Amino acid sequence: MRIYVTKVLAALCCAVFVINSSVHAELKPGSSADNQRMRQNFDAGWSFIKGDPQGADHSDFDNSQWRKLDLPHDWSIEGPYNELNPSSTRGAYLPCGTGWYRKSFKLPADTNGRKVFIEFDGIYMNGEVWINGHRLGKRPYGYIGVEYDLTPHLKLRGDNVLAVRVDNSLQPSTRWYTGSGIYRHVWLTFTDKLRVAHWGTQISTPKITAEQAEVAVKTTLCNGYDGAKQVIVTQNIIDAAGRSVASTVSRFKLEAGGETVVSQALKMDDPLLWSPESPNLYTVRTELRDGKVLVDNYETPLGVREVMFDANKGLLLNGKSVIMKGMCNHHDLGPLGTAMWDQALERRLRMLKDMGCNAIRTSHNPPSPELLDMCNRMGFLVIDETFDEWRRGFFYDEKQRKLVASRKNKGKARKGYHLYFDEWAERDLIDHIKRDRNHPSVVLWSIGNEVPEAQQFGELETVKQLQKISHKFDPTRLVTVGCNHIQGANESGFSKQLDVVGYNGGGGSCFQYEADHLQYPDRLMYASEVPHSLQTRGEYRTHSRYRESARQPAHLTEKEIFPETDVWYESSYDNAGVRISALGSWHLTKTLPYVAGEFRWTGFDYLGESGGWPRVLGNFGIIDICNFPKDTYYFYQSQWTEKPMLHILPHWTWNGKEGTTIPVWCYSNCDSVELFLNDKSLGEKKFTEKKGMRLEWPVVYTPGELKAVARKDGAVVVTEIVKTAAEASSFTLTADKPKLELNERDLSYVTIRIEDESGNFVPIAENWVTFEVEGPGKLQALANGDPMSHENFQGRSVRAFNGLALAIVVPTGEDGRIMLTARSKRMEPVELTIIAGNPPPEVEAPVVNK
Ligand code: GAL
Repeated sequence: MRIYVTKVLAALCCAVFVINSSVHAELKPGSSADNQRMRQNFDAGWSFIKGDPQGADHSDFDNSQWRKLDLPHDWSIEGPYNELNPSSTRGAYLPCGTGWYRKSFKLPADTNGRKVFIEFDGIYMNGEVWINGHRLGKRPYGYIGVEYDLTPHLKLRGDNVLAVRVDNSLQPSTRWYTGSGIYRHVWLTFTDKLRVAHWGTQISTPKITAEQAEVAVKTTLCNGYDGAKQVIVTQNIIDAAGRSVASTVSRFKLEAGGETVVSQALKMDDPLLWSPESPNLYTVRTELRDGKVLVDNYETPLGVREVMFDANKGLLLNGKSVIMKGMCNHHDLGPLGTAMWDQALERRLRMLKDMGCNAIRTSHNPPSPELLDMCNRMGFLVIDETFDEWRRGFFYDEKQRKLVASRKNKGKARKGYHLYFDEWAERDLIDHIKRDRNHPSVVLWSIGNEVPEAQQFGELETVKQLQKISHKFDPTRLVTVGCNHIQGANESGFSKQLDVVGYNGGGGSCFQYEADHLQYPDRLMYASEVPHSLQTRGEYRTHSRYRESARQPAHLTEKEIFPETDVWYESSYDNAGVRISALGSWHLTKTLPYVAGEFRWTGFDYLGESGGWPRVLGNFGIIDICNFPKDTYYFYQSQWTEKPMLHILPHWTWNGKEGTTIPVWCYSNCDSVELFLNDKSLGEKKFTEKKGMRLEWPVVYTPGELKAVARKDGAVVVTEIVKTAAEASSFTLTADKPKLELNERDLSYVTIRIEDESGNFVPIAENWVTFEVEGPGKLQALANGDPMSHENFQGRSVRAFNGLALAIVVPTGEDGRIMLTARSKRMEPVELTIIAGNPPPEVEAPVVNK
């Protein structure tokens, strides 16, 4: 939930600037004459050390030698990779360990009598916090937000010192890369003693018709004064243009000291409904007055939408059937690690949106609050997941030849959440729901992923208890678990407990929809994690390779025509994976109306779960860690979008394969495609109802030009050309954002593309490119998407992988021109200028040595 007060925005910007410039930051006073809430970003100006120095919790500890940095920060991504790191294949072989952060700050002069809170959106993991030497608490789960009341321990004059110890030393703590550190945003909030509680609103729309929506608002209020207070609570619903479209006022008496929940109801006429296509948003503005004085002002997003699951029709959103075209994603941002860079995340969501994706499963943990803000705004349905692990682990029962729950509480990862479950699960779940329950994008709570408790020798108490908590804290949403080995979960009675059953692919669950629909006709179901296909950008194999070999599709050619493909790379022909192809899975989902949608594993490649050294990435993504799409991205785009598109695979640079017959595939959403090789037609093929999702031609390889022409209603609407490349001889740099803002942790993604002398893309190039940066910017990361690349993301040189690489450039804070000079052996250097802020026109570009 985003809360800010427009009135104090100017002061806030000023405060952020001051914080940026000094480690001993002085917070600027807000417009606190009326004691309103002031929420400040508190990311800037921290000191950091990796290690565990004694006494770092004391306020007088000397941290002058520590590294200065701004949060969010992930120290693991700084590397180096090492096969021996205890994070193992799960954590991408990156280092973890223990680290400390400290920050000194002065309070605004008018703080006396106000409350001051610090909020961490996520510390991975075991974040333990001190203020001025007083221990505030520790939170093991790294994905949950936590707020501490600093008020009793603050000095109104002089320096206040926050110290945070982060312990991620017990490994592996999950089954994927988590990063280490204060990797999400930090906020400082000032309020009156009379205030709305943390995550203090709960908004629902109990009745929606085309003419009117009923909006119910429950607000938790705290009275920190010694005496009772007569308060006035006003709720205003504000539309996108800033107009109030409904309001209500109530008066209450609040006793001293406690929390009180007040309920109010509003009606809004002609509501604009929220949906992925039209993500209409409102804001509920809550104003709290002590007598006539405004003391708090709190904002909550509102989207008016009705979500219903139906056992025959799947998901009905605002009464209309909608298939969830979803992606599971882990939370890392590739070369940036798990450190939250809002704009990097937004780029990723935009790519998914352009592909026609309308849903996200936050596998397998609570996401950053910003992800949900973006999903509200951009229009994604979200399955908001809390846990991957409860108590149990899996065990393969040889006699029964099936996966069962181990009888010991050893979890799925050796040092995973099972160590904390008994003490923390209830609190973590409640906090997760309270934090996220007002986001219109969230359509289901997922309380688990593939929990062994679902299987034989598991138990049902935990699922019942977690589901009950979810219903209590949010009666408006149903609860799900992503289940693998669905037969086991059916036999144990686990799936019967769930409001909505999520089918993960494991154990062939994705082949069970039809039988289960017959056997359990009232079951609400969707594919929570299907398909799992693997692919490496620009790599191909004509022999299919599935983890479950019995389900492997036929080879594309009798003899493997790309035997040189490295064993650790996966084929991009949608013929590598676990048990079902992207095409096969989508075919099932779209033809079975009771399956409410599917969430593929995964949208993006992610760090960790690599399958073993030397691979360090989970290569399931249809987009690589640099955000370069792979071929299967275009498969989904062809199925999920209508703007004419066409994609050809594979590339057409196969020196030495002259005369070999290569399967050429086209993905398109048009009626037909005609393929030409060196201007000779190889025939036009039509998409038909029966055989509709890709077109293929066997093409005898001759170097030159492969051209595809897509037609709609007889007219050519898209043409795609792939040419055989000669030797790599040059490269280009293209910034996706040539002008950067200074205060937003802005980023420019610069694509490095290797070309031949005629400007053709060289899809096999692996040239090294080295960067020099001058001006007010720096390289934040370099990457190439190769799952076997072990180079540091923080270096100055990057090797192209299959013709492409990425440089991420960030501004350092001053207006000016960031000059990038890139060099590669036997190639002309290339320069690129990115503007930072608003440099005056007379500032000359710095001179760069060539
Ligand atoms: C699933 C699991 C995912 C990921 C995937 C890889 O079983 O839920 O987290 O591990 O397998 O195939």
